[in-house]
Amino acid sequence: MKKTIRDFDLQGKRLIIRVDFNVPMKDGKIIDDTRIEKALPTILYAKEHGAKILLMSHLGRIKTKEDLEKNTLYPVAKRLEELIKTPVLFVSETRGSVLEHAVSSLNDGDICLMENTRFEDLDGKKESQNDEELGKYWASFGDLFINDAFGTAHRSHASNVGIARHLPSGIGFLMEEELKYLDENLKQPEKPYVVLLGGAKVSDKIGLLSNLLPKVDFCLIGGAMAYTFLKAEGLPIGKSLFEEEKLTFCKELLEKYKEKIILPTDHLVQRKEEIVSCFLTDTKEEDIGYDIGKRTVKVFQMYLKDAKTIVWNGPMGMYEDPKFASGTKEIGEILSENPHTKIVCGGDCVAAVTMFDLEKKMTHISTGGGAALELLEGKELPGVAAIDEKTY
Ligand code: ADP
Ligand code: 3PG
Ligand code: MG
Repeated sequence: MKKTIRDFDLQGKRLIIRVDFNVPMKDGKIIDDTRIEKALPTILYAKEHGAKILLMSHLGRIKTKEDLEKNTLYPVAKRLEELIKTPVLFVSETRGSVLEHAVSSLNDGDICLMENTRFEDLDGKKESQNDEELGKYWASFGDLFINDAFGTAHRSHASNVGIARHLPSGIGFLMEEELKYLDENLKQPEKPYVVLLGGAKVSDKIGLLSNLLPKVDFCLIGGAMAYTFLKAEGLPIGKSLFEEEKLTFCKELLEKYKEKIILPTDHLVQRKEEIVSCFLTDTKEEDIGYDIGKRTVKVFQMYLKDAKTIVWNGPMGMYEDPKFASGTKEIGEILSENPHTKIVCGGDCVAAVTMFDLEKKMTHISTGGGAALELLEGKELPGVAAIDEKTY
């Protein structure tokens, strides 16, 4: 059993809490704040127990200088302040004297949010490659470390695993609830067990399927995720998003799990200035597929209506654009009519379900995408493994 925030005396302590505030954004605005809301119990508990709180999170992926501006956590600090109804000090640095001074000036119960941990990725991927010096430096801001970032628990980064190496550590309430729910309900899922996979993190998540497919009855694949499989089947996909280097892998999976993998038969494409609905077989070279089609929704429905356990990660299309949102919306509606266990996971998938007002119809809304899937695969999450065990 892992230690939790309840196992520590927080009064007057400098407490680092790693949260996952990697919220979906569009044009600098937060589309969905579920991940912030769900982190509140831990933050409020720490405040009420007199800790000096330093929050850390990543947002997006930082590869170039241009990525910095659109991935600042500043809007998140503002939203957190509204939700928690108390001031949040935002420090727009990830190291240096301004940050050090801000942290050392915190009073008991104060909350400070540091700038995006991945800003450190610009200089040699220090955060994402778990640079030893960086983890140690960040750890020097705390007496204790609480990891509540379930959504990032499948990563071994400086701000989760790195800091945990240097401080007494525990998990927060969100992490505890996610691990408990997913473990209890998915160790022996009621069958038929259907996984519905979409979204755009193709190279990240496609690999999960070799461990997941033996456990599930069916895997329905939509979103950008489907195109590498469709291309591997020899179908035309135009200019839709796919991963060249995963084609052989997909071909092998398709051969091994023919009966289990269900792919789209039609889609909605951007064809020059027009949006066209067509069969996959009729896809033109210039087409970009951005949503699943009506027939695909009907086929997916056949599997979803009888399922006793459904895990859904990744939207079926580019749901942020209303022109390409209907596949995701219709699939969400089909799930809400199923009376059995329905788990929706991933920042964007949860944002989509919330956008269509369907979140209350789901059994569990998980803040983790890749993290939830890796847990379902049976893997140990490094962000959890790094946390201290309870001693009795
Ligand atoms: P989640 O956050 O639910 O784990 P991902 O982060 O993997 O999901 O993917 C979400 C993104 O996938 C969204 O921004 C959505 O626009 C994008 N997406 C879905 N389908 C497509 C598609 N066909 N082409 C391009 N992007 C897509
Ligand atoms: C997520 O949205 O799945 C988590 O915040 C992790 O983000 P990442 O895939 O960019 O590491
Ligand atoms: Mg996402």
